[in-house]
Amino acid sequence: MAGIAAFLMRRRSPVGLYIRLNASLWKWLPSTLRNAELMRAYGTILHKLVCRRADRRQFTGTFFYRNRPQLELMRRLTGRKPEGATLNIAILGCSIGAEIYSILSTIRAARPDLNVRVCAVDNSAEVLNVAKEAVYTSQLCDLVGSSIFERMTEGEFEEMFESDGRAARVRSRIREGISWHLGDAGDPDLMRVIGRQDLVVASNFLCHMEPAEAENCLRNMARIVKPGGHLFVTGVDLDVRAKVAHDLGWRPVLELIEEIHEGDPSVRRDWPCAWWGLEPLDKKRADWQMRYASAFRLNEDD
Ligand SMILES: C[S@@+](CC[C@H](N)C(=O)[O-])C[C@H]1O[C@@H](n2cnc3c(N)ncnc32)[C@H](O)[C@@H]1O
Repeated sequence: MAGIAAFLMRRRSPVGLYIRLNASLWKWLPSTLRNAELMRAYGTILHKLVCRRADRRQFTGTFFYRNRPQLELMRRLTGRKPEGATLNIAILGCSIGAEIYSILSTIRAARPDLNVRVCAVDNSAEVLNVAKEAVYTSQLCDLVGSSIFERMTEGEFEEMFESDGRAARVRSRIREGISWHLGDAGDPDLMRVIGRQDLVVASNFLCHMEPAEAENCLRNMARIVKPGGHLFVTGVDLDVRAKVAHDLGWRPVLELIEEIHEGDPSVRRDWPCAWWGLEPLDKKRADWQMRYASAFRLNEDD
């Protein structure tokens, strides 16, 4: 009851109305006006207001090939591994598996010689079971609230799935080498359970947490990256990420930095009127590389 009352209050409050009005107007603004300095400053204030009122519920929404430039950077980084090497990857907050299979398909197509081992982690048993089954139907889109195939080409669909028209199953050669873990990315025991990794991926779940919780979780995830390994972290409050990156001496990867920032259309499009919205990249900021990088090289001195 209290939740419903709070929801109604939020919808009816003048601030809620003001934000909804802005959201309707913002999408009609021509991009030249939206990108003007004054409008960006206004957008930043508006976004802060939106975040203060946010109901940061966790979502399980995901897409196959969600951020292509990010996949391309993973392909390039893993492409530098020696012939036949083992590559350990942890994918945290993996939801129903679209991200896992997109990464595996990309890396295995480029480097079939590598022994790729994936630790897939999520704190929801329901989505983890779906990820493990790797059978996708249109009903699943209802479960996660997003059209999971919409960013795939027909060729990629054929390459990834065996399909009978009603359900699509990820091909067995892509599903190899995955271990499944029901767990919390913020659990200090994570390192003991899954061990250190060459690549850790944490996409689109820290933004659902309050800043202090997200910061703790991010610090915890950084501990499982091997010396000189990489962390990819998107869908997070940029102040939180930049603070932790700065404190722990992470080196931002500059390759494809702008492309990755723009690479997930739904989060960029929803700024400034949704709390998950991602601000436009601003190269005038002195700290822009640290602020906008989403891939980092870690623990180089360990
Ligand atoms: C919005 S989905 C993102 C899925 C995928 N990473 C992507 O970017 O498409 C967020 C997922 O993170 C999971 N999650 C949220 N908090 C978590 C935590 N503390 N530890 C592990 N998984 C978490 C949720 O259950 C959900 O499946």
